[in-house]
Amino acid sequence: MKYSIITYGCQMNEADSDLISSLLIRSGWEPTPSHESADLVILNTCSVRERPEHKVYSVLGELREWKRSRPGAVLVVAGCMAQRAAHEILARAPHVDIVMGTGSFHRIEELLNRAQSDGRPVVALDMEEDPNALRCPPTRAGQEIEAPAPLRAFVPIIRGCSNFCSYCIVPYVRGREASRSLSEIAREVESLVARGTREVTLLGQNVLAYGRDLADGTTFPDLLAHLNGIEGLWRIRFTTCHPRDVTPALIAAMADLPAVCEHLHLPIQAGTDQLLQEMNRGYTTEHYIEIIEQIRSRIAGLAITTDIMVGFPGETRPDFEASLRLYKRIRFDAAFTFAYSPRPGTAAAERHDQVPRQERLARLNHLIEVQNQITLQRNEGQVGEEAEVLVDGPAPHGEGLLAGRARNHKQVILRGDRGLTGSLVKVRLTEGHLWGFRGVLVV
Ligand code: 5AD
Ligand code: SF4
Repeated sequence: MKYSIITYGCQMNEADSDLISSLLIRSGWEPTPSHESADLVILNTCSVRERPEHKVYSVLGELREWKRSRPGAVLVVAGCMAQRAAHEILARAPHVDIVMGTGSFHRIEELLNRAQSDGRPVVALDMEEDPNALRCPPTRAGQEIEAPAPLRAFVPIIRGCSNFCSYCIVPYVRGREASRSLSEIAREVESLVARGTREVTLLGQNVLAYGRDLADGTTFPDLLAHLNGIEGLWRIRFTTCHPRDVTPALIAAMADLPAVCEHLHLPIQAGTDQLLQEMNRGYTTEHYIEIIEQIRSRIAGLAITTDIMVGFPGETRPDFEASLRLYKRIRFDAAFTFAYSPRPGTAAAERHDQVPRQERLARLNHLIEVQNQITLQRNEGQVGEEAEVLVDGPAPHGEGLLAGRARNHKQVILRGDRGLTGSLVKVRLTEGHLWGFRGVLVV
């Protein structure tokens, strides 16, 4: 029996799809890249903006024919959109067999059995209380799996979010913050490293909140310090971070722990104090700038990236222009940019001063233009420097070229032997581009 998973949205969703995959493989399923040869198709969905939700409905439409032509085939909608709109999904796509919310991935096997015996759609929307249950079981005692692990692996450390930014659906569909235990995380990372992983990215909607819900007082910097001690783990990254939770202890950990990479992803979202307040972000532009200045002065070679949203309700042209001035002053290395998308059930969606769609898109294009120029200039400014690059393997384009990442997470393309895959090399950066660098090996 074969399965296929289509994943939308963020890295947390990718990690959740990995969990679903590893559970299915353990019970005898085989992955297949296309739905045509699959007996089970899972759409792991995203609700953060409207567009990926539309996409899911259109793919569900396309899958109607596949369902009809394959008796016994099972169609699952999983993740954030399943959690948010289970009944709408079943009304619009009655050929869906299972709607599996964000707390139910680990129950996939049981839900498949139920769908088969019930003969009608199964809906599972319970919020799991134990985040340790929602992770790959290979690290459970006595069940070590010997399979090779990826060079760079992603490890969720905290699920959910308790911030309730006024535009954001995440706290509603993924629940409140819930941290995995330090020992579970360490065990998973040790197992990955033993099987070949050299870099981990710690994942969460806000990793800096790690431990706040644990009784033992563990903090995120404690976790970094612990993982830094794992032999064979060369690099530690983490994403994403809320500016409100940046502490001196975090900055010290980033500065002092050799495995922790020089990259901070710190979503700013907006560039005026009024917008930040209406978004319920809990910091001012001045506080944000202070963090950036402190951290840049402590950590040489640090790259700072961000998320920016334009067209939040009530955002005027002058607000937008003031925000642009701030972004030009901060000079982010890169930014993920978004046009605000009203999400039903959030506070901002109720407002009567929505910015027209056309205007939101125009502002987004303008912002992208400004940020691209800054990104290019910053990368050009690094030309001539030496960088430590972890080689991922052959570059997607170009004979004899390798692709890898510098410690600041920027991409580097260089000429070299494919035998260097998986190793750390020293590279002189020779060209800066929007996407990263070209460089040459330093021997
Ligand atoms: N509309 C547009 N972008 C959003 N984000 C979160 N909610 C919305 C929304 N309603 C963006 C934020 C967040 C990123 C993951 O998605 O910038 O940091
Ligand atoms: Fe959403 Fe804000 Fe939580 Fe990020 S911090 S997931 S934007 S509520």
